[in-house]
Amino acid sequence: MTKPIFIAASPNTQKDDVCLAFKQLLWPFGWYSKKPVKEFEGAVQDYLGLKNAIAVDSARSAFYLTLKALGIGFGDEVLLPSFTCVVIVNPVLWVGAKPVFVDINRKNFNIDFSDLEKKVTPKTKAILVQHTFGIPVEMEKVTAFAKKHNLKIIEDLAHSIGGKYKGKTLGTFGDASVLTFGIEKVISTVRGGMVVTNDRNLAQKLREKVSSCPRMGLYRTFTSLFNPVFWVITKPLYYLGIKKITLGRFFIAISRLMNATGQMIEKEEYAGQKPGFIPSKMPGTLAKLGLNQMKKLEKYNKHRKQIGNLYFEKLSKIASSEIIYYYPKKMSECSLLRYPILVKNPDLIHAKAKKNRIILGNWYERMFHIPVENLELIGYKKETAKNAEWVARHIINLPIYWAINEKSVIAISQIICGKTAA
Ligand SMILES: Cc1ncc(COP(=O)(O)O)c(C=O)c1O
Repeated sequence: MTKPIFIAASPNTQKDDVCLAFKQLLWPFGWYSKKPVKEFEGAVQDYLGLKNAIAVDSARSAFYLTLKALGIGFGDEVLLPSFTCVVIVNPVLWVGAKPVFVDINRKNFNIDFSDLEKKVTPKTKAILVQHTFGIPVEMEKVTAFAKKHNLKIIEDLAHSIGGKYKGKTLGTFGDASVLTFGIEKVISTVRGGMVVTNDRNLAQKLREKVSSCPRMGLYRTFTSLFNPVFWVITKPLYYLGIKKITLGRFFIAISRLMNATGQMIEKEEYAGQKPGFIPSKMPGTLAKLGLNQMKKLEKYNKHRKQIGNLYFEKLSKIASSEIIYYYPKKMSECSLLRYPILVKNPDLIHAKAKKNRIILGNWYERMFHIPVENLELIGYKKETAKNAEWVARHIINLPIYWAINEKSVIAISQIICGKTAA
């Protein structure tokens, strides 16, 4: 039995982040200060080597405002990867454009270039590029494709901030890039997003749009600050009790009842609709959490690279009839946010892991993370992206965050394979 491991539940949070969040909770008068937002924007743009950064409440807002600022709307089409979350499909619907779903490559979980050529039409205006799990997309192919069809490129850095492709930083290839600082992402402000771009005109338009957005509501800001504090208390108590009646589970039930840690995706978003509070501004208090996380980004990425490469080493030494595929390369220029493997029976592996107090990840085991009956509401017809649907049926994500060490990697690999991985 290993120490409990939770792939989600505020994985980036460390003591300093919790203390900072707690201090912010005690001083609500400074929550909407603009200075930390400017500083956070400056830190991210400098880190990526870009000229402009505009912070908002989430990546979905960042993408929505970017599409608007680029003049994309009714009658236009936007190419999207099919192995993603609904929140990145919705902004295309919200501006009145049509999401066009591109299938993925089964080996790297990124867009399949042969399908891309089939999906482009004279109405296509932009492509969203997602570096899934931190695996970089072959960007020279994207830039050539975009040039040929006169498309805007928007990179989604949800799974990689600081990764490189052929020596060039991800996020610097396109017209703009969107970042999320959601709770389980590369760095976390619990809720938060940003657009980064070298295009001065685009940045100007975005700043104008953001200036007329409302600020994030008080309760939403409170739940964001409370979130890391809640998880640092609750995680160690998760298994404290008898069988399934435990203190941690009790706290989680209470927090859900009171909506004390907030929803990351609102109910209407699962059906393609826009909640009224989107888009809104990033509060200064969350920008402070982001600035603290930025200081640790290099360290996090280095650790993620080591742990990802360790999974690769351990899994390549033990053959298991349960595993269909694991990412077969050592990362050199990038680090993974989660380590993806494909297994015959994900439910079986999740259950085995749970018995050992390990909660593995399931990004994106359901297409777009929505109920099947809602797929048509976001414009997806079943079997449009057969590879993505197949991968979704077999995907498991292994944890990589700062508290994972060699011992955890060995334990997790053993549990998955039922064999000694050392
Ligand atoms: C690939 C990807 N991009 C963007 C987002 C959106 O992030 P946010 O929650 O900040 O809107 C998500 C959400 O989980 C995601 O999976």
